[in-house]
Amino acid sequence: MKIAVLTGGGVAPGMNAAVRAVAQAAFGKGWEVVTVESGYAGLLERSFRPVDSGTLSGWMGRGGTMLGTERSEEFATDEGKSRAVEAVREAGVEGLVVIGGGGSLAGALALNELGLPVAGIPATIDNDVAGTDMSIGVDTALNTAVSIIDRIRDTAGSHHRAHVVEVFGRDNGYLAVMSALAGGADAVLTPEFETKPEDVVRLLEESYEGGKSHFIVVVSEGASPTADELCGHINHAGESYAADLTAAGHIQSGGSPTAFDRILAGRLGAEAVEALADGDAGKMVGIRGDAIERHALDDVVGGERPLDPGLYELAGALARIPR
Ligand code: F6P
Repeated sequence: MKIAVLTGGGVAPGMNAAVRAVAQAAFGKGWEVVTVESGYAGLLERSFRPVDSGTLSGWMGRGGTMLGTERSEEFATDEGKSRAVEAVREAGVEGLVVIGGGGSLAGALALNELGLPVAGIPATIDNDVAGTDMSIGVDTALNTAVSIIDRIRDTAGSHHRAHVVEVFGRDNGYLAVMSALAGGADAVLTPEFETKPEDVVRLLEESYEGGKSHFIVVVSEGASPTADELCGHINHAGESYAADLTAAGHIQSGGSPTAFDRILAGRLGAEAVEALADGDAGKMVGIRGDAIERHALDDVVGGERPLDPGLYELAGALARIPR
């Protein structure tokens, strides 16, 4: 059997470890593996490259994606998807493993429906893919966000200023809530829950009156008010208030994956190959508790992984969420 593997969508640390795991598991079955450059765009351009264990040496700890990832307008069309299946078939490829977030997994489902056996592996730092407790890259991005908050605290502790830290999460507050919990932030704003900027200022006043010298708010990029708006609000609230903004930005999606992400990549990569070997195509592999499971891509793509309100409440209980 000959399979192809690609990475798609946003960059997540551990994508390379997942490619390596897929390939190693496939080699263990005596299969051939080709990598696809630049995600779905690479399928259309027929950017296939045969790999062996030697090619993938050193990929485990590398950040980013060595295969690249690119948005493709053509792939978004029905004709584009049919052309992609044709390209794969002409290369003698009988199965495809897609490593990526929600958008990439939707593409995987479409290709599977066109008759190409596909297995999906969730990889996105947003942790918003249904059917898995954790996606590859989340743990690394979370640790990066926490280390940024810790450093901001070192600075903040030295002067009387508020600090607003913006973390990724266009539509989902997972990274914000978990980094606020682990970083001991004073407040957290997410897209899922509404917060008034004047309530944040009230908390800030209470904190200063209570003797604190600093105040740290973590804000998801998709929250309203935005980190920038909140900063402006604090700066205009009174002469004794000043706030600085730090956007963690793409620092969060880079870096060498943590041991957790590497091991998750290994387990999910091996299971994706098992699914193809079993003829069980059209599945995404995920983790529930400590168990590796398969879920129909159809359920995953239509499903949601909402932020746990209990964790948001806990972040409030252990800090102070404005109400
Ligand atoms: O979609 C995943 C994500 O982490 C979003 O939360 C964030 O807006 C985005 O990636 C940033 O990456 P890019 O600049 O590549 O879109």
